Amino acid sequence: MRILVVGKGGREHALVRALAESPGQPEVFCFPGSAAIFQLAKPVAADGLESLIEWMKANAIDLCVAGEESYLVKGEGLANLCQRHGIPCWGPPKESAQLEASKEFAKEFLIRNGIPTARATATGSFEEALAAIAGEYPTVLKFDGLAAGKGVAVCPDETSAIAFLDEVFTQRRFGPGRVLVEQCLTGPEVSVFAAIVDEQYLVFTPARDYKRALDGDLGPNTGGMGAVASRRLVSQEMLDQIEREIVRPTVAGLRKEGLPYRGFLYFGLMLTPGGPQIIEYNCRFGDPECQAVMPLVRGDLAAFCLAGAMGELRRDLISFDDGWSVCVILASAGYPEASRSGDLITGLGHTGDFRVYHAGTRKNADGDWETHGGRVLAVVCGGVTRQEAVAKAQAAADLIQFDGSQRRRDIGILNFD
Ligand code: AMP
Ligand code: GLY
Repeated sequence: MRILVVGKGGREHALVRALAESPGQPEVFCFPGSAAIFQLAKPVAADGLESLIEWMKANAIDLCVAGEESYLVKGEGLANLCQRHGIPCWGPPKESAQLEASKEFAKEFLIRNGIPTARATATGSFEEALAAIAGEYPTVLKFDGLAAGKGVAVCPDETSAIAFLDEVFTQRRFGPGRVLVEQCLTGPEVSVFAAIVDEQYLVFTPARDYKRALDGDLGPNTGGMGAVASRRLVSQEMLDQIEREIVRPTVAGLRKEGLPYRGFLYFGLMLTPGGPQIIEYNCRFGDPECQAVMPLVRGDLAAFCLAGAMGELRRDLISFDDGWSVCVILASAGYPEASRSGDLITGLGHTGDFRVYHAGTRKNADGDWETHGGRVLAVVCGGVTRQEAVAKAQAAADLIQFDGSQRRRDIGILNFD
């Protein structure tokens, strides 16, 4: 089997490794990829979506796996193009990927399908947004488009709301677009992933990510400073409720509304005192949750994704380990406000009972690894207990060094009793 993975970050490194380690030993390719990914996958000679499709056809690719969301909604859409050219694709077409690309579309879908979610008003100007907030703080403001994880602001007061609305409507930091004014929910967050194949689905091991830069959930929002995954992250009762009230109605809603879906769907949930509610959909796996979840997957992920892309949900092909998995992100100096590149990384030669996925690295002229971006590496470790996984992941992270390295010490600790 020949598989092409689209993306270049830590999530794609984890996906590529899980696919490459599948028992059928598929040949894996990656676009655009990274130096670290190219140790497991071959590079692709393409410079855009159209040439990527031509390349897939010329190279007899059996399966295209969408790692990152942007290609799903670019141009005609990755999955739409694949379908037109007869290439099975694990990832939804453009019309369905609006669930992630447009917060307003997602909110209307949720309401139409009676799925629990925060109350919200769509607004098209600074004044309209302020009127919708109506002095009720805290409030949550969401830019209605892809904003690389930067489009949401939880605003405790009017000053912070005005600052965000100014970025959106005056500075147009994210380009043109509207703002959703949303009720602020409270409770622990959990990321639930389902593999969806038309009217069927399989729920993967749930996870939780840590978005703030500093311990204690302090500091600015980031792309994610770590994650913890386990079947035991939430009770079986809660998992059943999530399936009943959120996953199943979503899959039914997609069918009813004629939105085709084959791929991973990410449910960002808040477990409020009144039950689980959706705060976002993403049409892909989470980053860094993927890095924590993939080491728990057993069986043949490659065959599972191929069967899924061809319309068959093969539950028998994969299973999930029972323990805990903890992912600690090592970020570069200055992240998230800025990021420094070019710092030499040492300690990557260590091997042990852990995995290291590269998010932002490159090889320097001497052939050594150096930093290349904000989030640099993900160190992932499993354990029978959460405490064991936490201790092992932090000990493994100690082995890897670079100037200005930052990481959180409370991944898998904070937000547990
Ligand atoms: P997102 O970019 O949609 O993942 O949102 C980023 C973060 O904002 C989430 O992980 C939550 O912590 C927070 N958030 C989003 N929506 C709400 C909400 N309605 N109430 C409280 N917090 C929220
Ligand atoms: N971990 C959050 C995300 O992938 O969007």
